[in-house]
Amino acid sequence: MRERLIIANFKMNMVRRSDIVAYCNTLRAHIDSVPDVKRGVTLVLCPSAPHYDVVARLSHTDARIACGAQDVACHMRGAHTGQVSPLTLADAGVRYVLVGHSEQRRDDHKRMADVAAQVAVALRADITPVIFIGETAQEHAQGKMRASLAAQFDAVTAALDARDAQRCVWVYEPVWAVGAQQPPAAEDVMAARILLQKLLTMRYDAATAHAARILYGGSVTPETVGRFTRDVGIDGVVVGRKALVPRAFLQIAATFAHHNAHGMMEKTT
Ligand code: PGA
Repeated sequence: MRERLIIANFKMNMVRRSDIVAYCNTLRAHIDSVPDVKRGVTLVLCPSAPHYDVVARLSHTDARIACGAQDVACHMRGAHTGQVSPLTLADAGVRYVLVGHSEQRRDDHKRMADVAAQVAVALRADITPVIFIGETAQEHAQGKMRASLAAQFDAVTAALDARDAQRCVWVYEPVWAVGAQQPPAAEDVMAARILLQKLLTMRYDAATAHAARILYGGSVTPETVGRFTRDVGIDGVVVGRKALVPRAFLQIAATFAHHNAHGMMEKTT
């Protein structure tokens, strides 16, 4: 069964331990009352680093929930003050890590070569990299979405083989849609998804393109998530602001699962 991912990127919010503990308690109390959050959908919560254990503990009692990290070092170990090794993440119960998010590229000046290194070390530690790719507002206005996505894809896959590419999660997240009012139209997300699949097919093969999961991120809300139906062909969403309220996050997960309920095994290309 194709596992759908609904990822909560908490960013630098819920800064106190009590915030994430309360969040997890509310999520646990309500998850069973949402009929569509069933098998085949995993909720990935990405809290601040010192709070991984809170989410990891919840994930041990509920297989529908997994812990994700918001960052990882470009190296396995060594003299890198302030960096966190993927081995440490794995030890803390982290199963996914966000890499290449536009806020990291902006705040930490991360280049695509750094992102490629993060992907490589995460995979070596058996953590699934969630790779963000998307065009800026300027590229969007200039009609350069395709060229932008292709350049980012090429940089991140330069040293990645087909087996590892299949293990990654790819997120189409236009930079201009992060923290905005509206996601793009469903057709535009579908076009980006098809482009990513074509890039995977050209670089590797059709089997890799079919196996790799492709998500959408940017301004997803309970109101807008319904546009990402089975026809759009995405395998989940990444949610920022609207993930901060557990019931809104569950509603997004339920709506997405409902609109994709009959497409678990297949993918429209
Ligand atoms: P947003 O953030 O849902 O608040 O737009 C999404 C993200 O940054 O991944």
